[in-house]
Amino acid sequence: MKFELAARIKELPPYLFADIDKKKVELRKQGKDLIDLGIGDPDLPTPPHIVAAMQAAAAEAKYHRYPSYEGMQAFREAAVKWYADRFGVRGLDANKECCALIGSKEGIAHFPVAFVNPGDLVLVPDPGYPVYATWTRFVGGEVHTMPLRRGNGFLPDLKAIPDEVARRAKLMWINYPNNPTAALATRGFYESVVEFATRHNIIVASDVAYSEVFFEGEPPASFLEVPGAKEVGIEFQSLSKTYNMTGWRIGFAVGNEQLVSGLGKVKTNTDSGAFEAVQAAAVAALGSSQACVEEMRAIYKERREVLCGGLEAAGFEVLRPKATFYVLVTCPKGYTSAEFVGKLLDAGVVSTPATGFGACGEGYVRLTLCADKSRMKEAAERIKRVKI
Ligand SMILES: Cc1ncc(COP(=O)(O)O)c(C=O)c1O
Repeated sequence: MKFELAARIKELPPYLFADIDKKKVELRKQGKDLIDLGIGDPDLPTPPHIVAAMQAAAAEAKYHRYPSYEGMQAFREAAVKWYADRFGVRGLDANKECCALIGSKEGIAHFPVAFVNPGDLVLVPDPGYPVYATWTRFVGGEVHTMPLRRGNGFLPDLKAIPDEVARRAKLMWINYPNNPTAALATRGFYESVVEFATRHNIIVASDVAYSEVFFEGEPPASFLEVPGAKEVGIEFQSLSKTYNMTGWRIGFAVGNEQLVSGLGKVKTNTDSGAFEAVQAAAVAALGSSQACVEEMRAIYKERREVLCGGLEAAGFEVLRPKATFYVLVTCPKGYTSAEFVGKLLDAGVVSTPATGFGACGEGYVRLTLCADKSRMKEAAERIKRVKI
């Protein structure tokens, strides 16, 4: 029997990392030591008090049954309290304006199912987290890319969006601190997004998965801090990067009641919520001392100094991140992103072409800070020896 894939899967863009993955496997088979700065997955463990909360919760039979799709009351209350404490976003209703997610990716993927009809336009940043565009297409929507250019602080130029596009657009994705550029949003930008979305009746979906990974200046803001944001938007938050919990699959969405409720309708018909013991651990994470987050930031900051300092000393142009654990390196003259990634791999360092996040990523490769300081030093040394 031959089974044919659905068109939506066949039409997925080619997997850009396939070649790199193949080469990685080959090099490892040859016994080559690779420093993997390709994947945005914290190498640091989940803080012990969160693990302990999970261990205790896992032993409780009351948590072993089907969870509710919207999340435990205690989790939603902890999430809205954390929003008030961290961002000053007060008055979110834990019952109507908050929904637990099985990792923020789950919510980001399901959100368009609730709001995007075939033929609707969705405004998607380029470069950007691929799930925004993929699920737009899965539900029959059309992607209109918003280029993120260095000259504009990697913020989309809303004035460049043609009127007829704005008229047809149903939804806009924004993501700050940004993957892969590490850019931060200004308050003024968020205000202009609210104004634009209100004028054109567009839903704003803000992805703040990296809001707690920052190194200097003011902590990154939430989109919901801006007046009028809750009238137009929803925000996707994750515990993955904040507490080194990528494997646990827990996040939440907060914001406009209708938008949260629409997402909830998809979830009731899809999944049965996050394991309640994980939610109990998440309550411990959000509700206890945030000293572990401060420690995590200090570790990434030190690594950033070692990696960026080493690369700059070697003559590379590096976009030193103020937030996120991603470092963009400008490709040397004459190299595409894919070619430069190949060069780095030959030197024993795994990186990601920024073109994996969209065509506007051309000219950059992305390195992560997800390996210890000695590996950062070694990575910079190896890259320094690359013959350009
Ligand atoms: C920009 C962005 N948003 C969302 C996610 C999803 O994170 P999670 O599903 O672990 O919450 C990621 C993961 O890498 C990401 O880079």
